[in-house]
Amino acid sequence: MALNFTPSVHQGANVLKKRREDKKNTSERAQIKWLPQKRQLTFLKACGLSFPFRYYIDENEEGLPKIFKRPDEDMPSGIQEPKAKVIGYGGAAGGGKSDALLMSLFAGILANPGAKCGFFRREYPQLEGSGGAIMRSKEIFADFPGAKWNGTQRAWTFTSLNNGIITFNHLKQEDDIYNYQSQQFDYIAFDEATQFLRKQYRYLVTRLRATVKGVFPIFMLATNPGNIGHAWFKKEFIEIGPPEEPHTVMVEQNPPRYEKHIFIPAYLDDNIILEDRDPSYRSNLENQDEVTRKRLLKGNWDIHAGQFFPKFSRNIHVVEPIEIPHYWRRFITVDYGLDMAAVYWIALSDMGFYYVYRELHQPNIALSDLADEILSRMKPPEREMISYIVIPPDLFNTRKQETGKSGRQILVENGLSGYGLRMADNRRVEGWRLMREYLKPIDDPFHDGDGEPDKVARILFFRGHVPKIVSHIPMLQHSELDANDVDNEPHHITHGPDSIRYFLMSRPPLKSLTEKQKEKIWKKRKKRTEPLYEETGY
Ligand SMILES: Nc1ncnc2c1ncn2[C@@H]1O[C@H](COP(=O)(O)OP(=O)(O)O)[C@@H](O)[C@H]1O
Ligand SMILES: [Mg+2]
Repeated sequence: MALNFTPSVHQGANVLKKRREDKKNTSERAQIKWLPQKRQLTFLKACGLSFPFRYYIDENEEGLPKIFKRPDEDMPSGIQEPKAKVIGYGGAAGGGKSDALLMSLFAGILANPGAKCGFFRREYPQLEGSGGAIMRSKEIFADFPGAKWNGTQRAWTFTSLNNGIITFNHLKQEDDIYNYQSQQFDYIAFDEATQFLRKQYRYLVTRLRATVKGVFPIFMLATNPGNIGHAWFKKEFIEIGPPEEPHTVMVEQNPPRYEKHIFIPAYLDDNIILEDRDPSYRSNLENQDEVTRKRLLKGNWDIHAGQFFPKFSRNIHVVEPIEIPHYWRRFITVDYGLDMAAVYWIALSDMGFYYVYRELHQPNIALSDLADEILSRMKPPEREMISYIVIPPDLFNTRKQETGKSGRQILVENGLSGYGLRMADNRRVEGWRLMREYLKPIDDPFHDGDGEPDKVARILFFRGHVPKIVSHIPMLQHSELDANDVDNEPHHITHGPDSIRYFLMSRPPLKSLTEKQKEKIWKKRKKRTEPLYEETGY
């Protein structure tokens, strides 16, 4: 099945003249033998560039590829405003991302003849060779009327579309971005985006300009999880909120600058063409080690190669906030260094679960100010409920402070008196081991007996209230020097976990739930007519 384009619909008079010349050599109508698969269509819609595609591919009842027609109401007549300026498309390998990127650029030129597009990979050899985007582009574009490949410039020029152009580029060295200093693109696509440095991506965003009228310039990034750019991609596309919806993201802090981002997930299941053609592709992925498998097959963003807490999962450890009963014990834990303070408020449920419910994560703050900040976050009744505050051992040290006072003294003088400031046990390896115990997924003790029990853990985090710790725990890596310790780099992600570790070390040894406790949970649950904490089930 081929798609018939009538490019003239989108063109001006001079383009038509040019096209009449081209027609001498080509057939009346262009043939592009490409249809989007369902998820690729979702991506193209997010880009506002789905209009050339009347048909799409999805699976039939037997799971085989079948062509479907888009309903009329879903079929735009032309280019649409994109859902966001920057569009992330990612997850599993083989989902059809690279194909979709190429076609989005082409659709951009189709909608805006003369538009200039850049397709980027980190290194040039990744563009070349079999399976590379250049070769794939030849398969797709070669038959299009007026499409001309220039091997030296690594560019397609579409003479029938007002010389719209797609160039293939790379940014091997960090500073290769400056080769694009004087260039402008209507559309930019980064493929395997997590191979790039954030600086490279941010710089190229500044090269995005409408060079022809009517363009909505967009920046597209397709990628699998993993690699050096994992952290920035995750922060700016995965953690921003639910996928397939635009979110406003702060991309620069000083001064603050915001941008609309959207993320479209991709799974291997999306690519029924590939699965049909090459079933071994999936089995190859299934035979990889656990980390690679979870990333490439499932598109899991919480998995890192040297991830210290691989069991940490948003689905298990991050829960909808609940109203904390006034009688639950509460604790505060502090990690304090000159560069960063990381403070957490934690409540202990009567069933022995710890809820981390508030976060204060602040750079360059004086201890006296920190005491103020901690107090200002609590209303007087809550202050009464704090059992104790854990602080790092060096705050008990007088010599370290210029004032001759210990850090502890400064905190006390600034309002944290009467709270029971406890010295943290900062043994690292023991602490991390304990933290792993607390994070270990266990069967939900509230499970009512039907089906597989959900997983929970002994320490849980309030969704949206403690964003730094939830993002930093899964980023922690094993130390190269001692596999039982956490790596100190990147340093800024270690403060929150250190703080939680201090807290857990301050608690009595962890016991598993006793039968008696479980029974109590059961009785409570039965008694409840209206569940108090429906979201979590507690
Ligand atoms: N819509 C499509 N029509 C035909 N082939 C497709 C389509 N989408 C993907 N493919 C093919 O499936 C394979 C994997 O797709 P690709 O875009 O490289 O996936 P990804 O970049 O997500 O790893 C490639 O050989 C590609 O040409
Ligand atoms: Mg690809």
